[in-house]
This record gives sequence, C-alpha cells and structure tokens, in this order.
Amino acid sequence: MVIEQAPLEDELGDVLEKALRLSGLSADALAERASVSIEQIRDALDYRYDELAPAALDRLAAALGLSRSGLRAHAAGRYPLPIISGLPFCLHPLRSPHGLGTANAYLVTDCHGGEGVLFDTGPSPVRLRRMWPAGVKRLASVFLTHAETEHVGALGEVRRLFAPASVFAPPGAGVPGATGLADGARIECAGYTIETLATPGHAEAHNAYLVRVARAPQATPLLIAGDLLFAGSIGGGYFCARRQREQVARILRDLPPATVIAPGHGPLTTLEHERAHNPFATLASPGAPGA
Ligand SMILES: [Fe+2]
Repeated sequence: MVIEQAPLEDELGDVLEKALRLSGLSADALAERASVSIEQIRDALDYRYDELAPAALDRLAAALGLSRSGLRAHAAGRYPLPIISGLPFCLHPLRSPHGLGTANAYLVTDCHGGEGVLFDTGPSPVRLRRMWPAGVKRLASVFLTHAETEHVGALGEVRRLFAPASVFAPPGAGVPGATGLADGARIECAGYTIETLATPGHAEAHNAYLVRVARAPQATPLLIAGDLLFAGSIGGGYFCARRQREQVARILRDLPPATVIAPGHGPLTTLEHERAHNPFATLASPGAPGA
C-alpha cells in the first residue's frame, strides 16, 4: 500500500528551540558558546536563518550536542524521508491539520476489511468520520499515547461508534474508563502483539507502542511514537527534558533498525533513517546526555 506522506513537523527554528530546552542553556549562553551573535540566534529561533553560514551552523550543532548533518539538512530545507515498506499489515495514517503541520492518529488493519486497532484518535469527531476507511467496520481496541486534545479529542466519538472497543492509555493520563498500561505491558489483540514502552518526557503520562503481527513476530515492527520522536526532530520535553532525552536515546538504541516510526506529528519514518539523519540522533551515542 502506498502511504501519502505529511509535511515535516519541525524545521530548523523548532529543532534549535527544542535542543535549547534539552541543553538547559539560555540563548545568550548558546550565542557565547557557539560564537554566533544573539541576534542571529533569535532570528533562527524565529525561522529566519538564511544568513547563518554553514560554519556557524556547525558550531551551533556542537554547542547543542546535535548532529551537524541533521542541522545542515534542516537549514537547507532538505531533510530526507525514507520510503516506507515491509509492514506485515495495512497502516492508515489519519491526519488532521494542526498548526502548520498535522496531528496523526493511526489505524492498523489486516487489509481485508477485518477488525482494526486504533492508536490515538485525532482532535475532531467530524474529521475522524471523514477519514475513516469505509471497509473497516469493527474496532478491537484504542491505544492512546497521551491525553492532549489533538491526539484524543475524538475518543468519545470512537467509543460511540465502536462500542465495546477497549481503551488503553498510560497510567495517570486521566482518561475515564481506560485501562492503564505500564512499561513492558503486552496486549494480544485482533492478531497483533502490542508492547508498551512508557516514555515520559513530553508529558508525564506518555506511552509509545510497538506493534507486531502475532503470527509473524520477526516481521517489520511499527512504533507508534506519539510525541516522543518525529521525522527529523523530537517532541518537546515539556514535562521533563532529562526524561525526554533518556527515552529518545532508549528508542534510538534499542529497537530494530527496520522499525517503522509512526509519530504523533509529521511524516512516517524508520528507526535506521532517523539514526542516520535526525539532528537528535547524537542522544543515542555513548557519553551523550541521557545515554
Ligand atoms: Fe502533540
């Protein structure tokens, strides 16, 4: 199945803003450490970086612990995306406009109109109904990554349309009637094995889910990443920057390279692609903060 891609969630200004937050540096301290003027830093954070020379970008990358190639790719507007293939099931991204990008829910099906499993719901019941694949009439379960409106706003409608689908969420997410899934919890459902990775950082109650087909456990897995890892960036460490660093590093280090990453915002990618290109891939290196 050919999957239509979404625009990147983050560009250079967002990457720098998130890296600043993770580093704990002020913009002034970064300017001094990277020998880049504070005006240029402020401009870059405000998406004006035409004047930033490659050497200055490289110094910013070094001062923030980011990869040079990842930062240069963003600055050139040329962050690459991989071809997505090899999943042993059908993946339907359900994308809603959010800011300049998209908020994504994902529906996994067997490609033959059978039962689906939904990950997040997107913000809007109307939008969800409009995007829903006509052939998918039944839903086994809904798994939520975190309880922000752009990810769970249509949960009431999903419950109404697909009762008695069970709802799973991170413990403490505050979703009434949901079953809490802690790190390592495994659910067998509709022929899939869904493993929980507790990934606090963007939010305190935040899970990622690793999805495999139960009868083909060696086939390419899918990571529903929520706001942990994006193509070309990461989710903001708004609850705890240190824990966001640790969880991004854990995912980049520990999952199989072929894993397809389905982020809460922006396009699909793969683990090996992000290891090679993501400016934050340095977090997984030995000695990196959070490694
Ligand atoms: Fe989000």
